[in-house]
Amino acid sequence: MDQPTNQAPTKANQSTQVALDQNQTPAPVDFVSMVAHELKTPLTSLRGYLSVFIEENAKSMTPEQNMFLSRMDIASTQLSTLVENLLNTSRIERGVITLNPEVVEWVPFVKTIFVEFENRAKERKIELEFIEPTTGFTKLMVDKLRITEVISNLITNAITYNKEGGKIILSIEVKDNEVVTHVQDTGIGIAKEAQGKLFEKYYRVQNSAAGRANGTGLGLYVSKVFVQMHKGKIWVNSESDKGSTFSFSLPVARDVPSVQK
Ligand SMILES: Nc1ncnc2c1ncn2[C@@H]1O[C@H](COP(=O)(O)OP(=O)(O)OP(=O)(O)O)[C@@H](O)[C@H]1O
Ligand SMILES: [Mg+2]
Repeated sequence: MDQPTNQAPTKANQSTQVALDQNQTPAPVDFVSMVAHELKTPLTSLRGYLSVFIEENAKSMTPEQNMFLSRMDIASTQLSTLVENLLNTSRIERGVITLNPEVVEWVPFVKTIFVEFENRAKERKIELEFIEPTTGFTKLMVDKLRITEVISNLITNAITYNKEGGKIILSIEVKDNEVVTHVQDTGIGIAKEAQGKLFEKYYRVQNSAAGRANGTGLGLYVSKVFVQMHKGKIWVNSESDKGSTFSFSLPVARDVPSVQK
């Protein structure tokens, strides 16, 4: 029988430990999600301190130092999106996602998320434009956290798969019973034959961008599940080399007694 030991694990027995844990875990994604969960706390702390540091010191630093900090900020946000997508995929597979819907005034909500991407867009010389609807009922019942992830995933993709010097237009279309949000980019576009597979788990289009841009192919899968859980739809219109528009619809909250105005 193996005796417990207080010795620090060597490289060899560390890898045995990992192998044993993998054997004991029913699905590989659970092991991944365990790691993702462990990454979340230190990452949140890093991002928090970094943003305080940038806020307090940006004015006294050289442009080069500011650029380094901005890159650190972007990289830590990317890591955090990756961790969230991994955790969400595991939650979806285990059927443990619940929604906490609340009434949201859609236009300012989306705008706040959009402007947070200014740094990342600037880094790739991409222009951002926000087009607001002028009239219409725009109160929705959403789980803010989940829907923030949907919008963030679409904007992240629009930046990642754009061309340097390109543009992203976020527009909101108000219909009778639903609000449709479009994220349009002037990027590399998606070939017709790939468009049907985009929302599948781990799917990534095999092109030069796949090698250049980090990604796991989970962002659109998670986004689709979250939109469907809100009784909405998500789809894409795209043309190779011209750009893509990802759109999703969400029902308005007219039926909720407290928000009928
Ligand atoms: N706006 C876009 N323009 C061109 N291709 C896109 C766009 N959005 C997504 N794609 C293609 O669809 C694939 C799947 O996107 P998805 O967001 O699910 O995964 P990802 O970006 O590869 O990784 P991550 O899980 O980090 O989001 C991408 O790898 C890319 O090939
Ligand atoms: Mg993505």
